[in-house]
Amino acid sequence: LRLGHRPTRDKRITTHVCLVARAFGASAVHIAGARDDSLQLSITKVTETWGGPFSVEFIPNPTRLVKEWKSKGGQVAHLTMYGARLRDALNYVEQERDQLIVVGGEKVPAFYYEAADINVAVGSQPHSEVAALALFLDRMTGGNWEDKAFTDAKLKIIHSERGKTVKQLPFKKKDI
Ligand SMILES: C[S@@+](CC[C@H](N)C(=O)[O-])C[C@H]1O[C@@H](n2cnc3c(N)ncnc32)[C@H](O)[C@@H]1O
Repeated sequence: LRLGHRPTRDKRITTHVCLVARAFGASAVHIAGARDDSLQLSITKVTETWGGPFSVEFIPNPTRLVKEWKSKGGQVAHLTMYGARLRDALNYVEQERDQLIVVGGEKVPAFYYEAADINVAVGSQPHSEVAALALFLDRMTGGNWEDKAFTDAKLKIIHSERGKTVKQLPFKKKDI
């Protein structure tokens, strides 16, 4: 959950929140704040080219999302420099439960600090929601995001120490 998106100021950083979420194992980003169709379109294009499943949606009521998430048995981790030390917080994450990770933008309302199952500090210095999310996802998945398989991709990069090796994948019927 990305809070407080402002299209004029946050377009690039919210786009990067979405790209990091997708690359490092999340299945969706819910964005609260002003609707931004161009951002949604650019992430949809990335997913169409490089695979999914991954979705981005703008939501009018983020507090409701948090309450519903918890009532359905999911856990909520709020990333904030004021939280518990990352390595301690990870002990509270129950992998078998769905995880909602909250990152802020401008000042984060008290509701999220209180409603979160855990407030997590990725270091106790101010930095960025993009960095905090990347590190949290890496540590939460034990680095297993590296093995994530993306489906319905048009392009796939084959690892190589030099050069660029990109494989074009066969079109699916729905692409035609
Ligand atoms: C640029 S900060 C702004 C924080 C805001 N001024 C506030 O009072 O919450 C934007 C977001 O980055 C994330 N963030 C920044 N530093 C962090 C840290 N050390 N640990 C965890 N998250 C952090 C948080 O999610 C935060 O809401």
